[in-house]
Amino acid sequence: MSPPDAGHMAADWVWETPRLHLRRLLPEDDAFILGLLNQPSFLRFIGDRGVRTLEDARAYIAKGPGASYAQHGFGLYHLMLRATAEPIGMCGLLQRDTLPDPDVGFALLPQFWGQGYASEAAAAMLEHGQRDFGMKRILGITAEDNLASGSVLLKIGMRYDGLHHMDRDRGPIRLYVWEAAS
Ligand SMILES: CC(C)(COP(=O)(O)OP(=O)(O)OC[C@H]1O[C@@H](n2cnc3c(N)ncnc32)[C@H](O)[C@@H]1OP(=O)(O)O)[C@@H](O)C(=O)NCCC(=O)NCCS
Repeated sequence: MSPPDAGHMAADWVWETPRLHLRRLLPEDDAFILGLLNQPSFLRFIGDRGVRTLEDARAYIAKGPGASYAQHGFGLYHLMLRATAEPIGMCGLLQRDTLPDPDVGFALLPQFWGQGYASEAAAAMLEHGQRDFGMKRILGITAEDNLASGSVLLKIGMRYDGLHHMDRDRGPIRLYVWEAAS
């Protein structure tokens, strides 16, 4: 993992791993976000954000990740392959009203699954949370049947904390926890 050691990096730069580049989402990511948020896997495992047009996508970027950067300094980021500069998904940290600690979130386009990218990005976000925001406890939540996501969270060193009923309108969710060694 590379810390931001150069003073001339772009203002939206967040992190780099051996294969991945993470930066803040920008309004011009609208077409990519429109595609990602309407993937069947995103709709099934994360939810329908109601993003159907480029305008909706720009509003999502501004009111979701953009508002989170402004309020917390972190959020969901644009995830890109360093080798080809292709955008492959989103990954980052969220601070929800419904959870006591930040959680790590990720979603990739299906053609990029199964190559360890989500695990590489999510592990980097644990470091980002610790190093840049002093986080001592970071959560992960998944739908009960989202085994791929659960396996990513275990692989990056989280422990499974069981099924929780957090929201009356939704089914139970699996909770994963990472805590800094004291
Ligand atoms: C979850 C997601 C990001 C995983 O991306 P990925 O790049 O394929 O993840 P990785 O390659 O780093 O790891 C996937 C792991 O899940 C495992 N896996 C995949 N499908 C699985 C399944 N059906 N059951 C159990 N494990 C599964 C893989 O074997 C791999 O583990 P391994 O490296 O120990 O073999 C991707 O599937 C996705 O975008 N899904 C839709 C959105 C989503 O669910 N986001 C998370 C919401 S909590």
